[in-house]
Amino acid sequence: MNFEELMLRAVTNAETFKYTAKPNPVVGAILCNDNEIISEGYHEIYGSNHAEINAISNARKHQGKKFNNFSELALVCTLEPCSHVGKTGSCAEQIVETGIKKVVIGTIDPNPKVAGKGIEILKKNGIDVTVGIHEDIVKNQNKYFFFKHTNNKPYIILKIASSLDGKSHIESDERTIITSKASRYDVQILRASCDAILTGGNTLRNDNPRMNARVNFPTNQPKKILLTSKDCDKELNFFKDNDVKIYKNKDLTQIIKSFKDQDFCSILIEAGPKLANSFLELGLVDEIISYTSNNELGDKAVSWFKENNAIENYGFKLESSYKIDSDIKEVFKKNG
Ligand SMILES: NC(=O)c1ccc[n+]([C@@H]2O[C@H](COP(=O)([O-])OP(=O)(O)OC[C@H]3O[C@@H](n4cnc5c(N)ncnc54)[C@H](OP(=O)(O)O)[C@@H]3O)[C@@H](O)[C@H]2O)c1
Repeated sequence: MNFEELMLRAVTNAETFKYTAKPNPVVGAILCNDNEIISEGYHEIYGSNHAEINAISNARKHQGKKFNNFSELALVCTLEPCSHVGKTGSCAEQIVETGIKKVVIGTIDPNPKVAGKGIEILKKNGIDVTVGIHEDIVKNQNKYFFFKHTNNKPYIILKIASSLDGKSHIESDERTIITSKASRYDVQILRASCDAILTGGNTLRNDNPRMNARVNFPTNQPKKILLTSKDCDKELNFFKDNDVKIYKNKDLTQIIKSFKDQDFCSILIEAGPKLANSFLELGLVDEIISYTSNNELGDKAVSWFKENNAIENYGFKLESSYKIDSDIKEVFKKNG
């Protein structure tokens, strides 16, 4: 069998579970003999079986028909099988127990709890292991997971909705709606793709947002993070679902550092100009996603940035831009 093709198939099918596996990486596994695919398995839901274990149990249904012993089969998996016993058992040990003799891996797991230890278990038990098939594609598929374990902090995305004249909101007790319904649905998908959403005290009090992902497909809801020095009314919508972590400390660098041991790889900041600029000034943002409408809010509205303080001056460059109805969505990535 062509292992490169099988790896691409495993990556493609694993993508189906990107919203339900998070904050875990998506992983795919395929068992094959010389002529055909025997079974496939995916990490479908956070906390449930890993891909390799699903592939093995699906293969058992064909044992005695399509194959006799697991020693006849090769296992292709996108990410290194885990060595540690977490929510499920160690996959590497379970692979060894089946008697599989060949394992082909996309890339090493960057999680320090694994990081090569799974491969070591396989090799020590006489399994022929190949690593590095379509490595870049696997890393890109799980870019937040790789970023977190490489940089010891989650990937931080700042979302802003802006009027044509660069304004964030009109100062009042009411929420200012800036962009189209289609852009606002795009933000719901963005929320669904992140592991946590972070906001500040003023947005909480002025807008009373729920900030969950209201999408028409199954997703693990993002955790919620609130930065405020004040006591809050727990009847506000933000507290309606999922755990909310409240940080009273205003030292953003320290807060971000403390996230290295938390169970999330990506954070979406949805706050007003005060908190957004504080994060940007400290260089803590990795990506900005901006939605700009074609309407102006005028002089009474609050600007996102000071005149000489545009996104580019914070060291970001435009990576892509899309039209959504009458709005423009732009994605900016940090230079270098
Ligand atoms: N257009 C958009 O995309 C968008 C998105 C979200 C919000 N908004 C608008 O933004 C408005 C609020 O904006 P805002 O700029 O006044 O407030 P904000 O950025 O939402 O929140 C600022 C608050 O965050 C807390 N905070 C904690 N650490 C901080 C730090 N290091 N630096 C700055 N703030 C810190 C403080 O809360 P405490 O005072 O409670 O201690 C501070 O008052 C809302 O009315 C909303 O309509 C617009």
